[in-house]
Amino acid sequence: MKIAISGKGGVGKTLISAGLAKGFADRGLKTIAIDADSSPNLGLTLGLSAEEARKITPISENKKLVDSKTNTGYSGVYRLTFSVDDIVRDYSMLTPFGVNMMVMGTVQSMGSGCMCAPNAVIRELLRYLIVERDEAVVLDMEAGVEHIGRGTASHVDVLLVVADSNLKALEIAKKIKDFAKTAGMKQIYLIANRVMNDLQKKAIIDFAEKNDLEILDFVPFDQGIIEKDMQGVSPLSFNELKAVKTIDAISENLLKKNKKFNKN
Ligand SMILES: Nc1ncnc2c1ncn2[C@@H]1O[C@H](COP(=O)(O)OP(=O)(O)O)[C@@H](O)[C@H]1O
Ligand SMILES: [Mg+2]
Repeated sequence: MKIAISGKGGVGKTLISAGLAKGFADRGLKTIAIDADSSPNLGLTLGLSAEEARKITPISENKKLVDSKTNTGYSGVYRLTFSVDDIVRDYSMLTPFGVNMMVMGTVQSMGSGCMCAPNAVIRELLRYLIVERDEAVVLDMEAGVEHIGRGTASHVDVLLVVADSNLKALEIAKKIKDFAKTAGMKQIYLIANRVMNDLQKKAIIDFAEKNDLEILDFVPFDQGIIEKDMQGVSPLSFNELKAVKTIDAISENLLKKNKKFNKN
């Protein structure tokens, strides 16, 4: 089961990514969660302490590692084929919820101030994790799916686009969905997060209908999430929170929709 989660900044991607990864691990799937946000904080939600999370260097910023994979000895020329299974082995870590995690750092857009070598490593890592490995992969992405690389994108089983009722978040969700379709992604769903009342719910439903977005579920606004995040503890340790319950139910639902992935 390979899932990518995308959407505007601040809409709840990290909470939902971590919650789904935990949900898969709780149901017996070997699961790896990938943090591809430019300000990575998935580790905290997966139960690491701030101190542990702070110690992690994103792969894209690990110059020595990137160099060891891509350096040819000629400036501006870098290797394109290299192994990455050892990177997954050496740089993923087991978090308290039983989910493995890797912090990628961001994939920069091609062109502007080329970050070719780190990009090449991250793209190959994503391809390897999504196309070749058979454990469940949950990808927490700040940016749209164009950063995954087209060849890999079509191997993602489910794209979840997260938005709240804010029109800007919904507009970005629509853009992400449109691109994902052209990249060959088949199961694309909207997750409405932080829904406070029926008015917000209706605004989201109306937008979704007009823009050909299929809503998978509504995650309620939950003050408890904000409080736990404020205290620096993972909200996911608190099963009684409404939002946490809903996200756990979504992981069950996704496994049902994709039966071939049940238990491995
Ligand atoms: N369902 C929810 N109810 C209340 N607060 C939420 C909910 N989902 C997320 N939040 C809060 O919104 C903020 C952004 O969430 P986060 O998962 O970090 O978003 P993103 O990864 O998209 O930037 C966090 O402070 C989090 O506590
Ligand atoms: Mg995030």
